[in-house]
Amino acid sequence: MNKQRVLVARKVFDDVVDHLRKHFDVEANERDEVWSQDELIRRLQGKAGMFIAGGEKIDAALLDACPDLRAVCSMAVGYNNIDVPACTARGVLVSNAPDVLTETTADFGFALMMATARRITEAEHFLRRGEWQRWSVDMFAGADVHGATLGILGMGRIGRAIAQRGALGFGMRVIYHNRSRLAPELEAPLGARWVSQEELLREADHLVIVVPYTPDAHHLIGEAELAQMKRSATLTNVARGGVVDDAALARALRERRIAAAGLDVFEGEPQVHPDLLTVPNVVLTPHIASASIPTRRAMANLAVDNLIAALGVGPQAGRPPTALNPEVLARG
Ligand code: DGY
Repeated sequence: MNKQRVLVARKVFDDVVDHLRKHFDVEANERDEVWSQDELIRRLQGKAGMFIAGGEKIDAALLDACPDLRAVCSMAVGYNNIDVPACTARGVLVSNAPDVLTETTADFGFALMMATARRITEAEHFLRRGEWQRWSVDMFAGADVHGATLGILGMGRIGRAIAQRGALGFGMRVIYHNRSRLAPELEAPLGARWVSQEELLREADHLVIVVPYTPDAHHLIGEAELAQMKRSATLTNVARGGVVDDAALARALRERRIAAAGLDVFEGEPQVHPDLLTVPNVVLTPHIASASIPTRRAMANLAVDNLIAALGVGPQAGRPPTALNPEVLARG
């Protein structure tokens, strides 16, 4: 029997692709090119499944142009790039990769917040430029992290893991805003208190954004919200570009209306708003919060497990572990 055909849309670990080859006829993006939408559609002809990294846009137009597609499996946890209802309507199974990246992303979110509060990259750039002549009492003096108020916007798995680091490791007071309040047994060990978004912005010394990107979350933090923050506060975004209005943030940073920001995600990335590149009080990283080798491997392996199961082969045939629309398979 001919093997089903699948497309691996970005370069991943060789052994991950080899694992897929045991079950499928695989076309892999060996050169790690970013394919245009037309190229993606062309390569998807006759393919039953697709492994994606997270940036590919899976919308109704692509689905309609690729009638053989039965499964789209992403190695990212965020899936704002996929029109899940459109997939469901066409019987296409979608999966993402939750849990496996929670702790690594929380490590990074916390590190970025600390680098921002303690002005680490600003100080490093100064040193590399050869400008360090003498010690001064206030040279790159920033804000304390320990004992400060940590404000978390979006208290899902990653938000809770960041709260845990702050509360248990750094004695921080944790406040959070989320659509739904955590159960008391989840709040209690963190000493976390639910507050309104206004109170969160007003009270946080260090605001960390981990909310999923949905149309409602577009520019959740803009000019008006930044104006509610303390002048001494920092803002860290490890969620998605678009949650923060980058132009408004750059203005607030330049005018020192907030002290500093740490950004791993950007509107329109890999482009970065030019004004963010010229303000000194921002730490910028290229969407690497989940980028530890073990975690990237775990994310890729989970996407592969989903793809194999979604296309009805392997030990978990018909039961992809982290399907977003499992009802598609129940329909048969
Ligand atoms: C995710 O998994 O959503 C991360 O942002 C990496 O893409």
